[in-house]
Amino acid sequence: MSDTVRLIVDGKEIELPVVSGSEGERAIDIGKLRALTGLVTIDPGFKNTASTTSAITFLDGEQGVLRYRGYPIEQLAEQSTFVETAYLLIHGELPNKEELARFSQALTMHSLLHEDMKTFFQGVPASGHPMGVLSAMVGSLSAFYPDSLDPDSDTDLHITRLLSKVRTIAAFGYKRKIGQPFMYPRNELSYCANFLHMMFAVPTTTYEPDPLEVRALNTLLILHADHEQNCSTSTVRLVGSSDASVYASISAGISALWGPLHGGANQAVMEMLKEIKDSGGDYKGFMEQVKDKSSGRRLMGFGHRVYKSYDPRARILKSMVDQILAKKGMSDPLLDIAIELEQIALKDPYFVERKLYPNVDFYSGILYRAIGIPEDMFTVMFALGRLPGWMAQWREMNNDPGHVIGRPRQIYTGANARDYVPIDGR
Ligand code: CMC
Repeated sequence: MSDTVRLIVDGKEIELPVVSGSEGERAIDIGKLRALTGLVTIDPGFKNTASTTSAITFLDGEQGVLRYRGYPIEQLAEQSTFVETAYLLIHGELPNKEELARFSQALTMHSLLHEDMKTFFQGVPASGHPMGVLSAMVGSLSAFYPDSLDPDSDTDLHITRLLSKVRTIAAFGYKRKIGQPFMYPRNELSYCANFLHMMFAVPTTTYEPDPLEVRALNTLLILHADHEQNCSTSTVRLVGSSDASVYASISAGISALWGPLHGGANQAVMEMLKEIKDSGGDYKGFMEQVKDKSSGRRLMGFGHRVYKSYDPRARILKSMVDQILAKKGMSDPLLDIAIELEQIALKDPYFVERKLYPNVDFYSGILYRAIGIPEDMFTVMFALGRLPGWMAQWREMNNDPGHVIGRPRQIYTGANARDYVPIDGR
């Protein structure tokens, strides 16, 4: 296969290099296009633009393949822990026993928040959305750790702090919302068990995290841990490319994730399933609405920019939901509605023709509900899971000596040059 392409512009032929990835993906390097021809490229939404090369995550949307550092998501979801997967994403290799013990210990040592941060929680309305609180708190960490303003400061230390403290911020935000006292982390608990403890323990009684829920949480977080250059990850890279601190970059990523077309879809799916339940199961009316563009509605939890087949994460989650509900002896009417909705959509020509399948957000909410996580915390859970990916991508960019500030161009379509007219003459 050729490693260049030839392009004819205004009768002049130019040659541009082709960049190849390790899985056979190919891209035209248009870096010199403007210098050679005066042209730039335009691609709204970056639908066909690779913003970077990256060695972290491989995704084949046609085949439904997802791998972190080469390891299939199915194997990691079943056999790894979130902490081990985070290490893999950030450092590039699976840790040995000592490395994993050291990493886990560092996470334990950084789990407390500066006591002054507790006043922040009291300063925001308890009714506020937890994603707004999370984004603000993470941004504020740069004030507590001002060394992070130096791009050459100890990146690994910031990464460890973030991974540990975001878990505490998320749980404290929930406690504040429901008016319960903050529960401090317990050093003897694992990462996920500690999160459940901080969320659900109360000082008046003993609480031991359920191993089944701990396993389910590990799987959920692993499935969300990275997804290459999505909206929030691209935001983290773009903000980080200006040499802003890692806390500022991650805070921006959290804000990008919040929207219902991205991570906010998990909460939106639940609202949609409840609406169908409340309508007495009016699937037909609902499907008509989501296919009608003028309604402004979509089937939440369906469709994906890259996956044009079943999202492998949705498949794993669906089977995890079945397992946990069976083991807990529970049922969830919203699960029945989701299954019915999926069956209807997968047979509907509108969805078939557009290759719209369930994505990670379609079943994740039902699993969160089974663990007792409230709906407005779902996107916070996504953020907690996505942290290692954001930080791995930030680190990869920061460690690349050739990295430059992200700054796209545009095609201007506004008014041509004209003279200012003083207000009396208008
Ligand atoms: N319901 C109804 N129609 C849809 C949907 C949907 N969920 N998703 C896409 N379409 C239609 C869309 O209207 C368009 O139709 P047409 O070709 O007739 O104009 C076509 O399918 C292609 O859609 P698109 O908007 O061009 O695709 P995109 O790649 O820009 O958007 C998406 C991807 C995820 C934003 C979109 O599928 C969507 O809005 N899904 C619902 C929200 C959702 O579940 N988001 C979570 C994504 S997975 C978690 C994450 O990583 O963020």
